[in-house]
Amino acid sequence: MTDAHSNRKNEHLSLATKFWRDDQKPVVGASFDDVRWVPGPLNSRSVETANTQTSLLGESFEWPFYIEAMTGGSESTKKVNEQLATVAEMTGIAMAVGSQSVALKDPDQADSFKIVREKHPNGFLIANLGADHPIENVKKAVEMIDANAIEIHVNVGQELSMAEGDRSFNWLDNLKHIIEESPVPVIIKEVGFGMGVSELRQLAELQPAAINIGGGNGTSFYQIEQARDRKNEVPLDLSSFGLSTVESLLAAQKADIDVPIIATGGIESAKDVTTALMLGASAASSAGYFLSVLMQDGQDALEQIIRTWQQQLPKYMTLLGASDLSQLPHAPRLYSGDLMNTIDQL
Ligand SMILES: Cc1cc2nc3c(=O)[nH]c(=O)nc-3n(C[C@H](O)[C@H](O)[C@H](O)COP(=O)(O)O)c2cc1C
Repeated sequence: MTDAHSNRKNEHLSLATKFWRDDQKPVVGASFDDVRWVPGPLNSRSVETANTQTSLLGESFEWPFYIEAMTGGSESTKKVNEQLATVAEMTGIAMAVGSQSVALKDPDQADSFKIVREKHPNGFLIANLGADHPIENVKKAVEMIDANAIEIHVNVGQELSMAEGDRSFNWLDNLKHIIEESPVPVIIKEVGFGMGVSELRQLAELQPAAINIGGGNGTSFYQIEQARDRKNEVPLDLSSFGLSTVESLLAAQKADIDVPIIATGGIESAKDVTTALMLGASAASSAGYFLSVLMQDGQDALEQIIRTWQQQLPKYMTLLGASDLSQLPHAPRLYSGDLMNTIDQL
């Protein structure tokens, strides 16, 4: 069972890399290109003084983006976590690990997660578990990497896509309990199907430290599970299920909730990060794109990409007349006709 679990982690990694490399990610709705930036008033501003800091999870971060949850749980994924954490350390950004449930079942796999704290000793690290785990497991996952926060993923679409996935979901009471009892701030996170207005309002009532809307147009676990699943006798067609990251961010605006939003799903440039912040996110994160750079071009290339984003972000802020991130949601923009239609229907 545990071997199968580790094997699944390896398959996720190689298939996600393949779909990003071949640019085969499915498109579910409006993309970042559906939001155009419009010149605003010529107020005084400068790249040098543009302040990229964001406050979230009780912490102040120098950069409003981080490496999102991907992996751990096998020998080869340990190497990937080691490289990701080294890059996070060198560039001063936060990092999340993949689901630690495999290491709770098989303690031999814990090293593949602990390596992240070793390589990023003073960094902000985010633990990761599914929403069905008891609070005892949450505490163990946090302790395993001395985490500063934990993501609890809700992934009905992914579970139903898998032959071996869960079939019933009674998560709300457990999520409430985890949020109340967790030793660190809790982020509730989707993994690629996005979140709509009603779900966001329901989750906000639980008062998590943040919600990651986890939208589409990036890594698709529906696509990945379909590709790896040779035994699924009842495959589902989820090609028209879900909201993109841009749509989910607009849904969060409509939901008018008092919980910080993190944007993940298809983020592959500093421009995407900027657009996500314009649409109300407090931070953004990237998984598949960073992974594909690492796997294809290596650790130095990933470090270089992140440093480039760190140079571009203050320039984009200056272009948009923002001297700090709180001004980005006020930057003028144009939405495409399709996106306007989506906003009306949300
Ligand atoms: C190889 C791989 C493994 C992942 N494993 C996890 C996981 O264990 N837990 C989780 O919450 N999200 C996991 N994700 C989802 C990402 O954290 C992210 O939500 C999703 O990939 C969308 O972002 P992207 O389009 O930038 O990849 C994984 C993503 C990838 C690419």
